[in-house]
Amino acid sequence: MKITVFGSGYVGLVTGTCLADVGHDVLCIDVDQAKIEGLNQGVLPIYEPGLGAMLKRNHSEGRLQFSTSAERGVEHGQLQFIAVGTPPDDDGSADLRHVLAVARTIGSHMTGYKVVVDKSTVPVGTADKVRREIATALAARQTELEFDVCSNPEFLKEGAAIEDFTKAARIVIGTDSERVRGLMRECYSPYNRNRDKLMFMDLRAAELTKYAANAMLATKISFMNELAQLAERLGVDIEQVRQGIGSDPRIGYHFIYPGCGYGGSCFPKDVKALTRTALDAGHDAPLLNAVEQVNQRQKQTLFHKLQQGLGNNLRGKRIAIWGLAFKPNTDDMREAPSRSLMEALWDAGASVSVYDPEALNECHRIYGKRTDLNLAATRELAVEDADALVICTEWKAFRTLDFAWLKTQLRTPLIVDGRNLYAPQDVHRAGLAYYAVGRGDSLQAIPRD
Ligand code: UDX
Repeated sequence: MKITVFGSGYVGLVTGTCLADVGHDVLCIDVDQAKIEGLNQGVLPIYEPGLGAMLKRNHSEGRLQFSTSAERGVEHGQLQFIAVGTPPDDDGSADLRHVLAVARTIGSHMTGYKVVVDKSTVPVGTADKVRREIATALAARQTELEFDVCSNPEFLKEGAAIEDFTKAARIVIGTDSERVRGLMRECYSPYNRNRDKLMFMDLRAAELTKYAANAMLATKISFMNELAQLAERLGVDIEQVRQGIGSDPRIGYHFIYPGCGYGGSCFPKDVKALTRTALDAGHDAPLLNAVEQVNQRQKQTLFHKLQQGLGNNLRGKRIAIWGLAFKPNTDDMREAPSRSLMEALWDAGASVSVYDPEALNECHRIYGKRTDLNLAATRELAVEDADALVICTEWKAFRTLDFAWLKTQLRTPLIVDGRNLYAPQDVHRAGLAYYAVGRGDSLQAIPRD
């Protein structure tokens, strides 16, 4: 099939590349000239395991092309995927400017039947707006042409996007058109062989499904973070409780890891956008508000633990941080807990020495050459002369650690662990204090020589 994907960001590139990989003829469009030039030379604007090789292969075999020409894009595909960004507006609602601009472009240039597929995460009712936008553009040309709009939300996780696309748990499609059902079935058929994953539903139900999924997952995390706060005060180890409840199949083990708060480009934005949608619909959504509030508070928890361990005055202290990305296997630092921590430390007059296997360039891009930021090339260099170590991301490479060695490096023998990576007794045995998340007995006094 001939497919056009508008927006060569995270979702657009993964969608375009995976669809080309099963033989579709895909054209990816973006307004960013430099990005398109880079892609034509095989340079990816994002870090995603496996994507680079797949993209280059399909590009060199001619099934995957990149262009800035929107007109060519409209001409190319019978399916027109919209996968452009929906950044949050000042009031938390999703900004649909880019989505509607693409819709206008499609309406302005189309010459035959098109299916317009909303892939971006967009609020309930957006498909109607897209439809109106296209109809208006067609009317301006005094042209009548058939088109359909459907919703096909994306559930990709960064770091596992290829796997999530090619082995999706479900493919949600919101439409009321039989013709669209047939075309979307054809589009996804290579990824729909073993069992039928296609779920057809009403348009608005598909739009809400995307927000509901992310809000449910964010709720699970905030719930566990709230329980972790409680466990800490009750002298209970939340990790034992996590296993205790996860074993109930109704609860399950997924997404119940307490930590230093959720980040990334989706959860924070989508929870806020859904709260906004609820308000606009006349409902104050107390639970959604609490999910967001708990998360904001949880992101401050590492800073408070450092204050607890090092004394309230952190001025002049040097803090080592391992892990900057909002989660492992990505260089993405959007809404990352590491940022709340660094910013709080800088405000308190401390400096930071940071290491991350992938996100150092991103950190440099965001914070530039601050004198109170040292980008360390290895985890060992990051802890040199540091007062204490904080872990913000659970990269695999941090899972083992020579505690005795670490003790010789730190001025104060203290690990603040936002991801509960170690057994508290192992750390304590080596003579270090270990402040983790919700681990009752972990807030022990710091050993002084
Ligand atoms: C998420 C959804 O999982 C995905 O379906 C959707 O399409 C986009 O948003 P992503 O943002 O890539 O994907 O990250 P995810 O792996 O879901 O993690 C989100 C955040 O939650 C991370 O900061 C992670 O550290 C945190 N998290 C996750 C926890 O704190 N505890 C958990 O148990 C799980």
